[in-house]
Amino acid sequence: MLHAIKRLAEYTQPPFLVDNIQLTFDLNPEFTLVHSQLTLRQNPALPPDPLSELRLDGRQLELIALTLNGQPLGPEAYILDSESLTLPHPPKILTLEITTRIKPHENTALEGVYQVNGGYCSQCEAEGFRKITYYPDRPDILARFTTTLIADHTQFPILLSNGNCIQTGSLANNRHFVTWEDPFPKPSYLFALVAGDLARIQDRFQTQSGRLVQLELFVEHENIDKGQFALDSLKQAMRWDEERFGREYDLDIYMIVAIQDFNMGAMENKGLNIFNSKYILANPKTATDSDYANIQSVVAHEYFHNWTGNRITCRDWFQLSLKEGLTVFRDQEFSGDFFSPALQRMKDVRQLRTQQFPEDAGPTAHPVQPDAYMEINNFYTSTVYNKGAELVRMMQTVLGYPGFRRGMDLYFTRHDGQAVTVDDLIRCMEEATSTDLKQFRLWYSQSGTPTLTIEWLYNSAQQTFELTIAQSCPPTPDQPSKKPFHIPVAVGLLAQDGSSIPLTLAESTLAYPSAPAELPPHTRLLQLRQEKETFYFKNIKEPPIPSILRHFSAPVKLQTPLTDDERIFLWKHDPDPFNRWEAGQELSTQIILQLALAFQKEPPRTLNADFIHAFGKTLQDPTLDLSLRVQTLTLPSEKFLLSRMDPADPLAIHQARQFVQKTLSEHLQQELMQTFLACSPSPGPFAFTPQQTGRRGLRHLCLELLLISKKDPIRKLALEQFYQANNMTDQLGALVPMVHTGCVEKEAMLATFFDLWHFDPLVMDKWFAIQATTPDPNCLQQVQKLYHHPNFNLRNPNKVYALIGAFCSNNPLCFHDPSGEGYLFLADQILLLNGLNPQVAARLLTNFGNWRKFEPIRKNLMQIQLEKIMHSHNLSRDVFEITKKCLDPAP
Ligand code: TRP
Ligand code: ZN
Repeated sequence: MLHAIKRLAEYTQPPFLVDNIQLTFDLNPEFTLVHSQLTLRQNPALPPDPLSELRLDGRQLELIALTLNGQPLGPEAYILDSESLTLPHPPKILTLEITTRIKPHENTALEGVYQVNGGYCSQCEAEGFRKITYYPDRPDILARFTTTLIADHTQFPILLSNGNCIQTGSLANNRHFVTWEDPFPKPSYLFALVAGDLARIQDRFQTQSGRLVQLELFVEHENIDKGQFALDSLKQAMRWDEERFGREYDLDIYMIVAIQDFNMGAMENKGLNIFNSKYILANPKTATDSDYANIQSVVAHEYFHNWTGNRITCRDWFQLSLKEGLTVFRDQEFSGDFFSPALQRMKDVRQLRTQQFPEDAGPTAHPVQPDAYMEINNFYTSTVYNKGAELVRMMQTVLGYPGFRRGMDLYFTRHDGQAVTVDDLIRCMEEATSTDLKQFRLWYSQSGTPTLTIEWLYNSAQQTFELTIAQSCPPTPDQPSKKPFHIPVAVGLLAQDGSSIPLTLAESTLAYPSAPAELPPHTRLLQLRQEKETFYFKNIKEPPIPSILRHFSAPVKLQTPLTDDERIFLWKHDPDPFNRWEAGQELSTQIILQLALAFQKEPPRTLNADFIHAFGKTLQDPTLDLSLRVQTLTLPSEKFLLSRMDPADPLAIHQARQFVQKTLSEHLQQELMQTFLACSPSPGPFAFTPQQTGRRGLRHLCLELLLISKKDPIRKLALEQFYQANNMTDQLGALVPMVHTGCVEKEAMLATFFDLWHFDPLVMDKWFAIQATTPDPNCLQQVQKLYHHPNFNLRNPNKVYALIGAFCSNNPLCFHDPSGEGYLFLADQILLLNGLNPQVAARLLTNFGNWRKFEPIRKNLMQIQLEKIMHSHNLSRDVFEITKKCLDPAP
């Protein structure tokens, strides 16, 4: 059933378990033969059932041979359809031998085994293993895998699979074989293989208990100079997990392979991670500071999965956030410890607000633990990943770090080697801390972003401060009304002179349990459980200014009575760096949104002078770390601003934001120039350090604003930086604003950049993306031209995201052109990709997700394209599910 819906409520245990599987892959140019020998037995946890059938999943397979306990089976002995192979009356214990033929070179969906750069690799999560052989392809079946790869020795000298290499040898006709054995039972989605001619970079790591682990990174030969940073990140992550969570690596070898064509970021296959090369390859000349940060966090993310995902895995795919939310939380904490927790929080919250909040407010909204899906690939979402991470973070906040750690320790010991549920994790947290998280669980089952509406009252006679918090959550598809959430709200109060007011505990007010180091003193954690509650603070001698939701203690929207002046005050004085940033961001947001409304009538002429002043002050605030300055001075993106405007008007948002940038640029020319010069490229070699990245970031922020004037001397400075840059961050820091502001030199610069980098696919992604995000009326034409460029390739997901994805999601002005041509372009690409790579097609579709939020003309044009897609033939499950949800009536 192509469009069947699977439900959490319908989960049943597997009738048969697999103990062992021995796989042999015979790799030939035209096809691959897969031989699988499995030993199965009826699940002892179920009452014996003589009638239970054995159903194996399988898709797009050619069945060549099948034997049961050594006896060949004819077609009368089994039932075969396009999704499965069923044995109606199997014995209780059995051995099956299955031979299938697959065609990796025809696999454009990049799921199962496929060819990449003349080699082979696999991607099995979530349900790709069934495209390799018939198997009960579900995560609650854990088996021991032994894998043999056979291939031509010259073309494929490297043959890899999970676990330890136990045998190698030569065969006739220049062929060779390698056998791998994975001692840890694992679900099929963690299986992997790689075959190719790759360079190997080696390193080693000694665990805290003294074991030596061999680290191996495989890249294409020409990228041999771009692997060390990823290996260093891996070692940092291994150390961090030992120190922070007491988790040690368990095999003698850890391998990472970087490949060009990959649907997602990376995959945590046991002992053999496979990565999209953009999250591995880096040297200063080709990778930017943000590339380095991404590599560090994705390498750590996949490593952390070894415990949260592999050793303890998911019972079923409704539990996806059990591994993903938890592992994102872990990688965020790791990155935060490396640079600064506050900086990391700003980045993570920015991402949550631009990706997850809109998802939660649109037609594909779903709980962190979904209860139904058609295509599981559509649920690798920002909700499952990023909101899921926020929920784990809230548990740490509510339980306090020591309690949370005890809960994690219990989880690791109790469930090691099992396939479990989100509820099992929460129960460990409850038992380790004697806490009741019943109400907290609603975060996992209710979708939608709650809004907190804040009111306050200062009573000077009694010297009390009353803070009233009301919560509400809008209806989402399938969930018309919600129960109140349990929400941790971290709060501080500031005196008029900017100092923190010591908070005297009133009954219902708890101290922040062992406040993380990044939270300032005098922060209290309020625990909101009702729809509306009032919290009382005693002995407050003057009317305070409240700082609410410090460190973003819950993934909610805030409505406060703060005035612009109070926001500027918090921007200057809040000792919580996150809320200090937040005050500036929210003020900018309010200002731009008001300007946008004005632009719909007549262009405004002025900008709040205090805002300009505060901006200039921050720019040169010596007490503020450079990276924090960059974060504070980065205006909210057009995409974010659009999500805050109802109905959304992309032209007005663009004009308003540009007006703010232009005004800041004019008023702060001197300060910007001074800062730009003060942050001149650091002498000495490039390094990915907080000091250097902060310096480059601030310099480029200044340059971007200065270039708005397009004045000769500033363009000259940018050109100089571009041509003299010894690293990609500086080169792009000059190129991007020159192109985006439409300076006359832009064509020559883009041509130079192309000449320099046309052979490097990852750098070419940048070249495509810069052009696709230019706010210029001709941008779509340019994108269509680039689409036919020889360096573009629709089969490479990175290219699709660099050109089409960047245009649709990071260039709202042009994508939402009222002609509707951007929408037409996107719909046509989705239909093309639907046949080639449904996962990528479905991901692009999310650009239509919030179509109902736009003004009527655009809304109507998007609806037309969605309906066109809906009525097309041969829609994949991926595209069908999302299109249908988009068109379903709003809740
Ligand atoms: N588990 C991977 C992660 O680390 C996600 C992933 C990689 C994936 N490749 C995929 C999910 C393909 C679905 C399909 O987050
Ligand atoms: Zn993951």
